[in-house]
Amino acid sequence: MRVKSQIKGGERAKMSVVAIVGTQWGDEGKGKVVDLVSDRVDAVVRFQGGNNAGHTLVVNGKKHIFHLLPSGILHENMTCMIGNGVVIDPAVLIKEIERLEKEGIKITPDRLKISQHAHVIMPYHKALDNAREAKKGSKKIGTTGRGIGPCYEDKASRNGIRIHDLLKKEHLETKLKNILDEKNFMLQHYFKSEPIQFEQTLEEYFQYGKRLSDYVDNISLLLDEFIKQDKNIMFEGAQGTFLDIDHGTYPYVTSSNTLAGNICCGAGIGPGKIDKVVGVVKAYSTRVGGGPFPTELHDELGLHLREAGGEYGSTTGRPRRCGWLDIVMIKKACRLNGLDGIIITKLDVLTGLKELKISIAYRVNGQEIYDVPPDLEAFEQCTPVYKTLPGWNEDIRNIRTFSELPENTKLYLKTIEELVGVPIYIVSVGPAREETIILENFFKQ
Ligand code: GDP
Ligand code: IMO
Ligand code: MG
Repeated sequence: MRVKSQIKGGERAKMSVVAIVGTQWGDEGKGKVVDLVSDRVDAVVRFQGGNNAGHTLVVNGKKHIFHLLPSGILHENMTCMIGNGVVIDPAVLIKEIERLEKEGIKITPDRLKISQHAHVIMPYHKALDNAREAKKGSKKIGTTGRGIGPCYEDKASRNGIRIHDLLKKEHLETKLKNILDEKNFMLQHYFKSEPIQFEQTLEEYFQYGKRLSDYVDNISLLLDEFIKQDKNIMFEGAQGTFLDIDHGTYPYVTSSNTLAGNICCGAGIGPGKIDKVVGVVKAYSTRVGGGPFPTELHDELGLHLREAGGEYGSTTGRPRRCGWLDIVMIKKACRLNGLDGIIITKLDVLTGLKELKISIAYRVNGQEIYDVPPDLEAFEQCTPVYKTLPGWNEDIRNIRTFSELPENTKLYLKTIEELVGVPIYIVSVGPAREETIILENFFKQ
């Protein structure tokens, strides 16, 4: 184990720009990790996805779930930014702001910045998302139904409404009129569903624009200023590597690039500005929605992981599919994101299991392969080749240093580190902020 140092909370390092991304199918515990290290950063930035994300933090015994607000928002003096690559449902964002304000956490315009170029999720996006899924029947993707795909489609086809379009009524009126003609034709005549009302939508979204206008800013410019002032910046990924639209298990993916490479386009900075990329790895695997999952457990053990890990979607409440850790996937995530290090979460969930399995290769058509095959049909045929390790029974939630962990827990971590080939920076042993073992400070010294 390449344990370097034990850092103390609040210790300040010289400037760095760090990316935190998911290495599996989302829900790796990114929210907890971002909140945890936020006391060392000046800005937390979302760069893709939308309110399909559900990031959970547990602070002072209270659970917070954020869908759009960056997970650093509970830290005072933190600037939270929502980049142009994010798709924003304004009603959801306003609700999150108001919920926090009710709890006494003020979200002033100098604490929250929203890109004027972020695309807006409109009612027809949600209607189309759900109508399409219903039409697909058993072949459905299992989307979150939040309108994410249709919104990114409009962005790519240049029919999108962006945040700054909400600020000028006549402008919004013209855009919306043209777009609604097409969308309502689809909804009514192809999907046989209800049309979206023009006047009501115009008024509603103009009001959202007014409510959010003070937060609207030029994120790329702001980030440039932060970088020049040697401030610490953290980019918070949503979803995970295998939900990436290009490199994930297409078509069972989301509609954005979830990889670290998309930070540059989704926030407006150059690749050379990112100092470190850190991947969050859940100690086992989960997935919500459809698509292949070679290490999925269809037995009692799968149900046990779901209950022990509370594996129900933070956004839709759907039960998550559960299975063993898949190192073949983590290695691919390492390559695709250029990971410098990893963070292992939910290790405590494995406590009490007699033995643990890690997939180290796949068997397909009588051959052993060591990388995720690029085509879905081949991936669906893969059966995992497992390495089996002994489990542990000791409660690890109160442990705060690596050396205090049971020997078998250390062995599990060391095996992961050796197989993946990058160091483990942090180990999470419970949902709360403090239930954490920090092995290495990944902010530049
Ligand atoms: P995200 O989307 O990657 O931010 O992850 P989610 O918040 O959707 O799902 C992770 C869940 O696991 C949340 O309920 C967290 O509170 C919880 N969690 C995070 N880290 C740990 C951990 O180390 N142990 C346990 N038991 N739960 C954790
Ligand atoms: P966080 O950020 C887990 C999944 C959906 C579906 C697919 C496409 O909390 O890790 P979409 O609504 O994006 O078009 O759905 O992607 N999905 C997630 N699964 N965690 C997420 O986000 C997800 N966001 C989308 O379940 O399979
Ligand atoms: Mg989540």
